[in-house]
Amino acid sequence: MHYTLAALALAAASAEAVSQGFNYGSTKPDDSSMFQADFEEQFTNAKNLVGTDGGFTSARLYTMIQAYSTSDVISAIPAAIATDTELLLGLWASGGDMANEITALKAAISQYGDDFAKLVVGISVGSEDLYRNSVEGVEASAGVGVNPDELVEYIKEVREVIAGTVLASVPVGHVDTWDSWTNSSNSAVIEAVDWLGFDGYPFWQSTFENGISNAKTLFDESVEKTKAVAGSKEVWITETGWPVSGDNEGDAVASVANAKIYWDEVGCPLFGATNTWWYIQQDASSSVTPNPSFGIVGSTLSTTALFDLSCKNSTNATSTATASSSYASATGSKLIFKLQPAKFSITFTTGVDKSRLS
Ligand SMILES: *[C@@H]1O[C@H](CO)[C@@H](O)[C@H](O)[C@H]1NC(C)=O
Ligand SMILES: *[C@@H]1O[C@H](CO)[C@@H](O)[C@H](O)[C@H]1NC(C)=O
Ligand SMILES: *[C@@H]1O[C@H](CO)[C@@H](O)[C@H](O)[C@H]1NC(C)=O
Repeated sequence: MHYTLAALALAAASAEAVSQGFNYGSTKPDDSSMFQADFEEQFTNAKNLVGTDGGFTSARLYTMIQAYSTSDVISAIPAAIATDTELLLGLWASGGDMANEITALKAAISQYGDDFAKLVVGISVGSEDLYRNSVEGVEASAGVGVNPDELVEYIKEVREVIAGTVLASVPVGHVDTWDSWTNSSNSAVIEAVDWLGFDGYPFWQSTFENGISNAKTLFDESVEKTKAVAGSKEVWITETGWPVSGDNEGDAVASVANAKIYWDEVGCPLFGATNTWWYIQQDASSSVTPNPSFGIVGSTLSTTALFDLSCKNSTNATSTATASSSYASATGSKLIFKLQPAKFSITFTTGVDKSRLS
């Protein structure tokens, strides 16, 4: 009872605050594990990013499981408690490891109790599972996904697990690519969730005019389409960003200059207004730089990003391209999303080469 009331009070408090932060995988760019000190370093850096007024205080996770363990609680949880970092929890729903994800979720509840619960703003059951399970996901060899019926079962299971615990009042959702949400074959998932997590990357939409000058237009259109199918449910921006380096994709050029334009035009209007988890603070290290690389700080963790994060130019930053022409010309062409390299690390929760830890 005590727990339930505390959770309700906190849920009410957090309902007024807007979440702003980054996505965090369970491994580093070289595939080694993130441990508590690594998460603390990342979370602290995010809060101290120059030009952001300490706004990046939230962390979205993809898994409850510590990398390379079977079902140990991810050390991002004690790191979040130590640094007072808000959490959007994630359970990795593809690949048959949900039982271990549930074990870790239960362990986190019993191990960390209220200290943990007060930080949690949401739980995502899965991440891009429907996309990976779709025609496009299969074409792009995106990896194993799940079908909507199975996902709905997992969502129900998670609701049962948190019922009567410190997490009882936490809203349960799912994160997927926006065109998975607008695919009517997945509507049962919309019915099952409390909120919809939107992943959208104009950079990857290479069958559209996806140069940076049209990026805000593409982003806004995809959010509107997602909101249209969401009905009264909230749409949270769980992943978006623009690469600072790497190969081009259609008209889209990966560069620091374009990443800044995207930040100003797409990010700045979201920050403080809509729950947003940017992709990503750091995905590169001295030894590994993914192609493309979305990390805003580059290969060395620093509070000074590769571009000015201050949003000084954002209020008047508007895309010069018009929405209708570009969209009409691309109607009927399929969207192509690709799995970002850094997210492969997430699949380690399904039990890949654990020997590398030793
Ligand atoms: C729509 O969703 C269904 C069920 O998830 C999936 O099988 C199908 O491939 C999707 N369609 C497209 C065009 O992605
Ligand atoms: C704002 O825009 C001007 C003109 O394009 C540019 O010179 C300046 O560096 C920008 N300032 C910020 C903070 O981005
Ligand atoms: C700049 O943005 C502000 C806030 O949205 C607005 O009030 C103002 O009119 C804009 N100025 C110009 C020149 O567009």
